Amino acid sequence: MPQLTWLVTGTSSGLGEQLVHSILACGDRVIATARRADERLGHLEKAGAAIMELDVTAPPSKLQVIIEQAVLARGGIDVLVNNAGYIEASMVEELDKDRLRRAFETNLFGPLNLTRLLLPHFREKRKGVILFMSSIGAYMGAPGAGAYSATKGALERDTLMPSTLLGMVDCLREEVSPFGIQCCLVTPGFYRTNIFTPTNMKTGPQLIADYDKLNTEYQAGFADLNMGDPRKATDRIVDMVRSERKAAGRAIPARFPLGADAVTIIRDDCTKKLSLCDEWEDFTSDTRFDAEK
Ligand SMILES: NC(=O)c1ccc[n+]([C@@H]2O[C@H](COP(=O)([O-])OP(=O)(O)OC[C@H]3O[C@@H](n4cnc5c(N)ncnc54)[C@H](OP(=O)(O)O)[C@@H]3O)[C@@H](O)[C@H]2O)c1
Repeated sequence: MPQLTWLVTGTSSGLGEQLVHSILACGDRVIATARRADERLGHLEKAGAAIMELDVTAPPSKLQVIIEQAVLARGGIDVLVNNAGYIEASMVEELDKDRLRRAFETNLFGPLNLTRLLLPHFREKRKGVILFMSSIGAYMGAPGAGAYSATKGALERDTLMPSTLLGMVDCLREEVSPFGIQCCLVTPGFYRTNIFTPTNMKTGPQLIADYDKLNTEYQAGFADLNMGDPRKATDRIVDMVRSERKAAGRAIPARFPLGADAVTIIRDDCTKKLSLCDEWEDFTSDTRFDAEK
């Protein structure tokens, strides 16, 4: 596989930061982006990455300038990784529309804006790979995760859940595959990053006393989880895109469940949906128009 150039969002910590190391370790080139990049990405620049300032919620006109600079800086981009994201944590009844909108701006509209801006470049080259960092939150409901699950569910497409109407990436894949562009939803399980820390997880005011217990449980719940190693996860992502090591001979998949917990949760979700179809099929199937008399 020839040397690839990657552009990764949200590399100030966690999976994004580790992905930069995994990319460099395999000999590829990477443009590591983040908010306040100059202050925070010096260590990645020293390791060999190019660094750029990029807030995924910036207006498209500003993002366009950044993307044009990025394309010129490294003579083209081969892989876009829409990694930046965060958890807007709240019970649905306590969630106001500004917080919900903020979650969608970062986790859905930002990735889609960047993708649209890079697509002309990929179409011209007749190749390119776009990864969307999704989440098991798109496959399971949990108290407090409504906003987060909605944003990730909007990236995913699902044939039974309400996210069907919002799901975007499966449609995009069909639209751009004729141009040699591949799209993959990466669905990590739980990994030990900063995402669950009080600084990165945005919790709103607890407004309704009835939810106090659930709110406390939600915020404390992550401490007990046996989370995976981000570096192992990002090494797998690089191998999957490059079709190397254990991924040799495998094509980039539509979905990439990342971690044993992710595999179990996605499989359980599929099984539950199949049972749901079996249980209700006889009752709901016969809703066609009766034959005209
Ligand atoms: N860790 C897990 O268990 C897990 C599971 C499933 C999915 N994910 C997904 O994996 C991705 C990476 O998360 P992580 O676990 O590595 O969490 P993390 O350590 O909190 O890293 C999140 C990164 O996103 C960046 N970010 C947030 N808003 C941004 C914005 N508007 N513009 C640019 N960058 C922004 C953060 O930058 P700042 O430092 O500037 O805030 C940070 O670099 C996310 O999309 C997350 O939803 C993670």
